[in-house]
Amino acid sequence: MTKRILVVGLACVDIISVVQDYPEEDSDQRVLDYYWQRGGNAANTSCVLSLLGARSEFLGTFATDKEAEFLKEVFQKYNVVTENCVTNTDNVKTPTSIVITNSKNGSRTILHHGKNWPEIKPEHFKKLDLTQYKWIHFEGRPSCDDIKDMLLWIDEYNKTVDKDARIRTSLEIEKTTRIGLDNLFDTADTIFVSKDYVKSRGYKTKEEGVQKLYAKCREGSEIICPWGEEGAVAVGTDGMLHSSPAFPPKLSPGQNMETLAAGDTFNAAFILLRSKGQSLNEALTFGCQVAGAKCGMKGIDGLD
Ligand code: FRU
Repeated sequence: MTKRILVVGLACVDIISVVQDYPEEDSDQRVLDYYWQRGGNAANTSCVLSLLGARSEFLGTFATDKEAEFLKEVFQKYNVVTENCVTNTDNVKTPTSIVITNSKNGSRTILHHGKNWPEIKPEHFKKLDLTQYKWIHFEGRPSCDDIKDMLLWIDEYNKTVDKDARIRTSLEIEKTTRIGLDNLFDTADTIFVSKDYVKSRGYKTKEEGVQKLYAKCREGSEIICPWGEEGAVAVGTDGMLHSSPAFPPKLSPGQNMETLAAGDTFNAAFILLRSKGQSLNEALTFGCQVAGAKCGMKGIDGLD
C-alpha cells in the first residue's frame, strides 16, 4: 500500500466575493461572483495533494455545526482521508474567512475568524500509527510548543526504523505575528517560509532571507520561500541557493486571476515531488508551475 502524506493544521470555510474593483469603505456594490469553498492552509494543501495523485490525509479539528459538515463533504469529494480528525463538542464555531477577490489583479483580502480554535494536541497526534506515513507537513499554527512536541515525536520514531521507512517532515512558517514560530526553524527537514515573514524580519531580498534564515535550520535540512510573481528560492541540503521563475497563467479574455491558496498549492506540489525523491530544483519548478496554473482558475478544480 502506498504510504500517505499527512497535513496537520486548519480547515475553515472561505466565503468568497469576487469584485470588479476593490471596495471603498462604507460603499454598496454588486459583486461578480460569490461562493463557499474549503479554506485553511492545511486543508488546501491536502486537497491539492490528492488532486495531484498522492494518498493524502488531513489532520485537524472539526466543530459540530453545518459548516463542519460542508467541510467533511468537501474532503470526501477530494478523496482526502479525515479519519483521525478530532471533533470538538464544546460549542465552538467552524473558523471562517470572508475573502474579497479583486478581479483586476487576483489579489485576495482575507478577514479571518478563528478565535479560541482548539488545535490538534500532541495527545491526539501520538495516537497515530506512524507506519502509514511517508511525509508529515505542519502548518505553523499558534500552538507552537505543541507543534515542536509532535515533530520531536516523529524524530524519535525515525530513530527506531530503517532509513527508507523514515518519515520526512516539513513546517510552514507563514504568519508574521506568531512569534513562537521563530524558534521552530530547526524542527523539520523542510521549512517553508513566507514572503511576508521574510520581509517582516527585515531581509531586503528573498535570497538574503533564505540564506540568513538557513543558519537557524537544522543540519541536512532545506528552506524554501515562494515569492508569488517572482517565483521561489531555496537553500538546499548542499547549502547552495536554488531558484525557479514564476509561471504566470495564460488568461483568456475576460478571465480573472485568483491568487487565493496559491501558496498552499505551491507547498503541495513541492512536497509531492520531494516525497517521490525528486530533486530540489525539480520540486521548486513544479511548485511554481502548479501554483501559476492555480492562479488562472477558480478554486483548485482543474489541477488534476
Ligand atoms: C489561504 C488560506 C485561506 C484561509 C486563510 C487563513 O492560504 O488558507 O483558505 O481563509 O488562508 O489564513
